[in-house]
Formats: sequence, structure tokens, C-alpha cells
Amino acid sequence: MARADRVPPALAEGHPTARDHGQLRDVLGMFATGITVVTANGSDAAPHGMTANLFTPVSLDPPLVLVCVRRDAAMHQAILQGESFAISVLSTAQEPVARYFADRNRPHGDREFDVIDWTPGQHTGAPIVSGTLAWLECRLSAVYEGGDHSIFLGSVLDLGRSSKRNALLYFGGDFHRLESEQL
Ligand SMILES: Cc1cc2nc3c(=O)[nH]c(=O)nc-3n(C[C@H](O)[C@H](O)[C@H](O)COP(=O)(O)O)c2cc1C
Repeated sequence: MARADRVPPALAEGHPTARDHGQLRDVLGMFATGITVVTANGSDAAPHGMTANLFTPVSLDPPLVLVCVRRDAAMHQAILQGESFAISVLSTAQEPVARYFADRNRPHGDREFDVIDWTPGQHTGAPIVSGTLAWLECRLSAVYEGGDHSIFLGSVLDLGRSSKRNALLYFGGDFHRLESEQL
């Protein structure tokens, strides 16, 4: 697994305005995203899930995606342990799922997935949430430092999608719905 060199300190510091977290959040919140649940099956732990909108397709050939995870999130350790992860792309009907996997007070361990319909990914064992728009199973192929997050690059092992077109979105710090008729 590759590990990127550190960013030179001068570049990492950024513009003073960008260090105002409130303003930075406001500005970045203008970038609308879909919403996923990233899941992992840490080698010595129960499956774990976390709501994530910092998900990005990276490359078609080879097929690569990335997800950014806070270094202090339980998910961070779960992905490093299992060296794999799965991504479930949520539909408009799954806002409660997004809220559940973002809630720090949800149960962890064996009971975390009790209230969720899911199936284990065939390649990774990581949970794939049922009823999603699309899903991917990934092998962890690189970890890059990204400040208070790590950037996990995943090599796509398997994937699937439904015919649904109703995407749950995140914009301006809130959930939104995209209902699209076209396929
Ligand atoms: C819409 C939304 C998107 C989020 N996206 C991310 C993300 O991409 N990366 C991340 O580390 N945390 C993200 N979070 C925060 C985590 O979901 C939240 O801190 C979670 O409780 C962490 O779980 P864990 O520590 O049990 O792994 C997001 C939260 C919300 C509500």
C-alpha cells in the first residue's frame, strides 16, 4: 500500500481566511454532494458504518474511488484494520439512515447494524446497505494524509446499482432531494 509524502508545512498552512472554520464550512457547503454510508469490516471488530459525503470517483482505468475520513472517527481504524471498505450511495428515502450513521450516540459493536437492512459484500464482508442507489466494494490501495482527515484510495472490486433515480443530497449544511425521471 502506497503512502504519500507529507505536504510541505508552508503549503499545509493555507490562507488565514481558510483557518476560520465557520467561514470555511459555509464556503465548502456550497458544493453539493451525494451522501454515502462507508462501511468496513475491521479484522478484530464488528462491521462499522459511517455517513460520508467526502466520497469522490477518481479513475475509470484502473477503477479507483476515494473517501476522506476524520482521523478521530472509529471508521478510520476500521478501514486500516480491514484494508477494505464498501460505499453505499443513499436514496431520498434513506435520510434516516444518513442521520443514524452520523450520530455519535448510535450503538457500536454487534448492535450497530441491528436497525439496518444490509448484506455482507462478497469480497470484503463490509456491509452493503439494502435499497441504495448504488454500491461499490473496494480494496484499500493507498492512504494519503489530508490534515485532520485521511484520504483512503480504494481499488474497486465489485459494484452494482438500482434503477432508482432519487438521490439524497447534502448542500448548505442540510439534506436535500433530487428526483430525476430520466435513466
Ligand atoms: C451529511 C454528512 C456527511 C459526513 N461526511 C463525512 C465524511 O465524509 N468524512 C468523515 O470523516 N465524517 C463525515 N461525517 C461525520 C461522521 O458521519 C460522524 O462524525 C460519525 O459519527 C463518525 O462515526 P464513527 O466515529 O463512529 O466512525 C458526515 C456527517 C454528515 C451528517
